Amino acid sequence: MKNIVTGTDMKKVDSYTINTIGIPSLVLMERAALSVAEIVCKNQLKDKKILVVAGVGNNGADGVAICRILHLKGYNTELYILGDISKASTEFKQQLSIAHNIGINIVGDYNDADVIIDSIFGVGLSRNVEGVYKDVILKINKGRNFVYSVDIPSGVSADTGKICGVAVKANCTVTFGSYKIGTVLYPGAEYCGQVVVADIGFPQEAYEQIEEQVKTATLEDFNFIPPRPNYSNKGTYGKILIIAGSKDISGAAVLCAEAAFRVGAGLVRVFTAEQNRQIIQRLLPEAMVNTYDVHHFNMKSLEACLKWCDVVAIGPGIGTGVIQKNMIEKVLEYNLPTVIDADGINNISEDERLKKKLHKNVVITPHLGEMSRFLNIPVEEIASNLIKYGREVNYKYNINCILKDARTVITTEQETFVNLSGNSGMATAGSGDVLTGIVAALIGIGVEFNNATVLAPYIHGLAGDKAMEYVSKTSMMATDIIEGIKILFKGM
Ligand code: ACO
Repeated sequence: MKNIVTGTDMKKVDSYTINTIGIPSLVLMERAALSVAEIVCKNQLKDKKILVVAGVGNNGADGVAICRILHLKGYNTELYILGDISKASTEFKQQLSIAHNIGINIVGDYNDADVIIDSIFGVGLSRNVEGVYKDVILKINKGRNFVYSVDIPSGVSADTGKICGVAVKANCTVTFGSYKIGTVLYPGAEYCGQVVVADIGFPQEAYEQIEEQVKTATLEDFNFIPPRPNYSNKGTYGKILIIAGSKDISGAAVLCAEAAFRVGAGLVRVFTAEQNRQIIQRLLPEAMVNTYDVHHFNMKSLEACLKWCDVVAIGPGIGTGVIQKNMIEKVLEYNLPTVIDADGINNISEDERLKKKLHKNVVITPHLGEMSRFLNIPVEEIASNLIKYGREVNYKYNINCILKDARTVITTEQETFVNLSGNSGMATAGSGDVLTGIVAALIGIGVEFNNATVLAPYIHGLAGDKAMEYVSKTSMMATDIIEGIKILFKGM
């Protein structure tokens, strides 16, 4: 797991490293500047003209140091300073004095260059960008130059990812120590271009000072998946019950069940409307199928399935109504590890009685619309505060939540995660059904409940990224994501 921090918390990490651990600020700054310069040197030829645009805070000081390092390496660099130097930070003044001594060319106006290094504001951005700052940022964005942003594009709030009036559109952002929330959540993430996290020597101890930790899954987290020993059978890898589909919707059940198999589930049983029996048996002969008749619903057959399974997923394509609510109530009575998606969430949103029956073995997987209905809060409000509302579900109902958006936010009992895998091709019908199957299967094969909640969106996203080996974002369908799961696990 890797840390993702707010700008406010990054300042705490910075200050703890400097004041408590004792690493001087100029050492951190030099490492920060070296890491950016190294990336620029790797990708830009020496004949390119480079303009460093620096504010007068410590982000600007990083920029001045970068300008000096590139100058000493033989690059054609110029420095343009924005702001009142008399009010500059101590470190900025020190860096500027060195730049003067070395003979850096300081220009009085913004002029275009092949490469722009944006170090106007970093995590210290505290208000809307206006006046000359705004004018220069608009000029940078108008140009055809390659833009590197130092720590975070100027104008993006490191705390939230919101744009403070206007922001630099970078091609590459070199962020120090760890991802900032503003580099991973939209719209800020869109302004960063490629994000490179540079290790500049902040100790892990400094990150432990942060109260509300936010993290992201990494490839190392595949270690949560237990090995598949030779001495095993299909019963070893979980009995998954998938309650999905209705009279006119069979695909949701097929996608969910197939994804579960592809993640390694041993046995999958689908409980669905009678009309879906043949199609599911034809499309997915590996799955067992039990059906119900909406006109003569028999709870005993659902109970038999619930007694059989280790994990249950309910919701994709089930529709809303009395039968569905009764099914959900029965499922919740069994206290099994339970994944609730789509109409499963919609039915609960309509019924306070069901909300009261939610228990700590439940994970819900809402998209913004479903979350809005569940919490009774407008979509726009949730979209602009994904972490806050993800956590609210956890505090209020004591359940895990996978809040699906361009950046999915995952909240478990104590922790918050942002998923960084995946792509916009995955915004397609059935993608959520695949995710539901992945969560259920991970629990079934023995991944601990909280770890499965975090790992599932990560695997789902990686599978979507793998799918792009043979299909474009434009053409991607949910079945391609399932193909992607196959490719992903083949490479493991
Ligand atoms: N318009 C105009 N000015 C603004 C605006 C705005 N919209 N928003 C903020 N500012 C001003 C602030 O008022 C602030 O000035 P002030 O300190 O006089 O109040 C100034 O911009 C600071 O902006 P930043 O440079 O973004 O913030 P800071 O000085 O905290 O530096 C940091 C950010 C720590 C350098 C980080 O982005 C970074 O690059 N870290 C790398 C590691 C590093 O170099 N660490 C050593 C730093 S030295 C030290 O911390 C003492």
